[in-house]
Amino acid sequence: MLKTASITKQQVLSGELLTWYDRHRRVLPWRAPVGQRTEPYAVWLSEIMLQQTTIAAVIPYFLRFLDRWPTIADVAAAPLDDVLTEWAGLGYYARARNLHACARAVVERHGGIFPADREALKALPGIGDYTSGAISAIAFDIPAAAVDGNAERALSRVFAVETPMPAAKPELRRIGESLVPDDRPGDFAQALMDLGATICTPRKPSCVLCPWRESCQALAMGIVESLPRKVEKTVRPHRTGVAFWVVDGSGAVLLRRRVEKGLLGGMMEVPSTGWAAAVPSLAAAKDGAPVAAEWRVLPGQVRHVFTHFELTLTIWAGRVAGRGDPTAGVWVKPDRLGDYALPSLMMKVVRHALGKAGA
Ligand code: ADE
Repeated sequence: MLKTASITKQQVLSGELLTWYDRHRRVLPWRAPVGQRTEPYAVWLSEIMLQQTTIAAVIPYFLRFLDRWPTIADVAAAPLDDVLTEWAGLGYYARARNLHACARAVVERHGGIFPADREALKALPGIGDYTSGAISAIAFDIPAAAVDGNAERALSRVFAVETPMPAAKPELRRIGESLVPDDRPGDFAQALMDLGATICTPRKPSCVLCPWRESCQALAMGIVESLPRKVEKTVRPHRTGVAFWVVDGSGAVLLRRRVEKGLLGGMMEVPSTGWAAAVPSLAAAKDGAPVAAEWRVLPGQVRHVFTHFELTLTIWAGRVAGRGDPTAGVWVKPDRLGDYALPSLMMKVVRHALGKAGA
């Protein structure tokens, strides 16, 4: 008897996208050749690194990590500081701490093997809804959605979702889930990411090349570039502070570790005052200094943009005689500063101070 299964609109859309992906997929180091699966460790590592970071920035870090720690058990066995040092420059350091905690949890709870189960994945440190979906689909071929920002944009357009972000997120996720095919869910997840990144771009999308152009409701309505809708942007608040560039008699510079809690928690820093909305008074800045010294304000300032605020640091340079006080922190020769996991903000401070004051 002839089987006449009807093909749903969802199946048409996913089929069109997969056909497009077979021809236009991006070649990326964490992607297995067609017909093969990427191992869970590499999927997880790439997904954590790709959160809030571009592919171009991630690739060298991803390759270095795999080279240094070929398995998740190797990451688990490494000291946290080594992981933070290797991560330095990628930003959002909570990801690196969670990465390390997750590696240890996979070893302790699952014998070093990632579980092929979305809920068990989600229970691991640093793995939320998106990442558990991505690992499930890409590494294990489990039909799960992985709707990232690129996918959200494409889906909001194809289905003309006019609810502003972030309120539209649950709706877009449901739409994403409804499209996931039973066959090749991992390719589907990555195809949607590629479509958003290369065709359905925020500005000047290449609609003529899009595999979904016939179905795209936003294209038909002439509103592609206005989706996804956003609520009005709030301006980032501004904070300021003073960083202290202290050099001892041997030419070593003072670094110290930030407290565990809060922004850049546990990272090494060039000592600084707290970061507040108001410019610190001279007396308050002196109170915040890590050692007593004659201070000279270096010309220029260091600016850095965090997710929730912008920071401007003024650098004060001072000298202390003899060997620096070891209770104030660690004293590091400038040519050894690279041995420490300095976050990007602190790298800027170091470059600025070396340029203006020398060591
Ligand atoms: N962004 C996040 N994960 C990705 C992946 N697997 N491929 C391409 N872009 C991504």
